Amino acid sequence: MPPSPDRPVDTPAPPETVRRVVLVGFMAAGKSTVGRALARRLGWRFVDLDERIERRAGRGVARIFAEEGEPAFRALEAATTAELAGLERTVIAPGGGWLTGRARLEALGPGTLSVWLRVSAEAALARSRAGGGERPLLAVPDPLTTIRRLLEEREPLYRLASLAVPTDGRDPEAVARDIEATILAGGPRRRP
Ligand code: S3P
Repeated sequence: MPPSPDRPVDTPAPPETVRRVVLVGFMAAGKSTVGRALARRLGWRFVDLDERIERRAGRGVARIFAEEGEPAFRALEAATTAELAGLERTVIAPGGGWLTGRARLEALGPGTLSVWLRVSAEAALARSRAGGGERPLLAVPDPLTTIRRLLEEREPLYRLASLAVPTDGRDPEAVARDIEATILAGGPRRRP
């Protein structure tokens, strides 16, 4: 897959040897579903960061938000990420607000391929309604407006990823296949 034309110039260089993959992107972009499929295809381990956080906290994401607030959840996100640093042959799917800057990507260690699963606001809303998962940030009267606002805020961060893959109207298995092909071809090439 050729590099996406919309990467910023300071996009971190993709690793020469891919040791792990982190899938970033908005809620309901398909990070967990694609991540599981990709890990299965590669024969790698899959880590769902929110599931780890829930195990650590002994309760679900919605309860953490309700009982301790979003900052407490973000602190758990950071602490749980630190535990994953350096894991080999691992596909990691964090939550949609995980990517706060380059340091977050770097915290996972060298050899991390970051992939942005792109999703439109409309598809994110439809998928979040259809699928499971606890999304306290979308438990509001007008979730589409919230999605549009958060997407606008977060897109510059998601653009830090080395590779962008569209997901609207696509089967998660096909998305996983594209990412796998990129890895097996030696990672995305740097833009000249
Ligand atoms: C969040 C996304 C959620 C979960 C939490 C916050 C976000 O994960 O981490 O509700 O800030 O975008 P998904 O992206 O898996 O829905």
